[in-house]
Amino acid sequence: MIKLSLSSIIVCMIMITSCKSERTSLAPSSDSSLDRLYETRYESLVNYPVDSLSFPRAMTPTTGVIKKVPSKDWTSGFFAGNLWQLYALTGKDAYKEKAIAWTAFIEKEKHNGKTHDMGFKVYCSFGTGAKLDPSKKAAYQKIIVESANTLITRYNKKVKAIRSWDFNKDIWEFPVIIDNMLNLELLCEASIITGDTKYKDIAVNHANTTLKNHFRPDNSTFHVVVYDTITGKAKAKVTHQGFNDASSWARGQSWAVYGYTMMYRYTKNPAYLKQAEATANYFITNKNMPQDGIPYWDFIDPKIPNAPKDVSAATCMASGLVELYTYTKNKTYLAYAEKVVKTLNSKNYILDATVKGPFILDHSTGNWPKNDEIDEPIVYGDYYFLETLLRLKSI
Ligand code: GLY
Repeated sequence: MIKLSLSSIIVCMIMITSCKSERTSLAPSSDSSLDRLYETRYESLVNYPVDSLSFPRAMTPTTGVIKKVPSKDWTSGFFAGNLWQLYALTGKDAYKEKAIAWTAFIEKEKHNGKTHDMGFKVYCSFGTGAKLDPSKKAAYQKIIVESANTLITRYNKKVKAIRSWDFNKDIWEFPVIIDNMLNLELLCEASIITGDTKYKDIAVNHANTTLKNHFRPDNSTFHVVVYDTITGKAKAKVTHQGFNDASSWARGQSWAVYGYTMMYRYTKNPAYLKQAEATANYFITNKNMPQDGIPYWDFIDPKIPNAPKDVSAATCMASGLVELYTYTKNKTYLAYAEKVVKTLNSKNYILDATVKGPFILDHSTGNWPKNDEIDEPIVYGDYYFLETLLRLKSI
């Protein structure tokens, strides 16, 4: 594994077109204090005490209180994923050792059929590890397939989609959220591992149903579409985490672009690419998109420009757009990802060295309607940031 200094990685990304052939002889950072800051933040992850029941999800930087969740939480796989990705970025075995430890605690989720979040939990941890550690590949792939078998129990043949949530059953007969697109990667990989197309077939049906019902004429996306299980038809289009039913929740747009770009990777269906591009364009060119590329949590919050921002929406979009660039060669997508990295590469966004908590970036927003995790470090903001760095490095 090639070891690069953190600043070199950032410089490489900014100079992405000129540093393709010689990644190990990059110019030194113009700001070594940022380098040290990254080192400190990355070390805060590897030094965080291992605990099989408490996965770090978010924190309040002012009080230092860390929100910890059990493995059943939808975010549990990101912390292990962050350690895996830091291993890939730094080449240091200490990250791999901790990644292996945290990943193991998620295995029991392979039997948890009460949630659609299997991909977030299992693929970000076991899936990332399977790609990076050949000694774990076979064992991790077995867990991916077992998890896929559990996830497809939530598929409804009439609706042709995977049920997202089980709560609110009295008002939501069969809810599907745009976030669910991210869980399809696990299914596509299960088909590759086993040679059985049944997982990918379900993923494709889900993506097609979502394509039909989740997008508005302006290519923004609804958050939740509720289906009638007798007719299979969409019967309500609402929000759960956005400003209102007609609004454009920033992270939802990112899930859509990332999800359809990823599904294009497995299918080469041009309709997926077209939708990913249309929603990406809606996002990037939105009149309420700030110059620095970090969106407000929802594009129509009337408090803009004083509304909270969402770094996680920016990093997820940036990661998706690096992949979208590889298929379209549209430099606008690469430019957005580079802008996000450049913006985040600053003391306004990297957590201060004095902050005690296993996170890298500040200013993500989790659930505004519930006044929960507003403008703070969140584990998946870091996950997609690290993935963006790795994707940029690989192109
Ligand atoms: N998947 C839940 C969220 O994006 O907050």
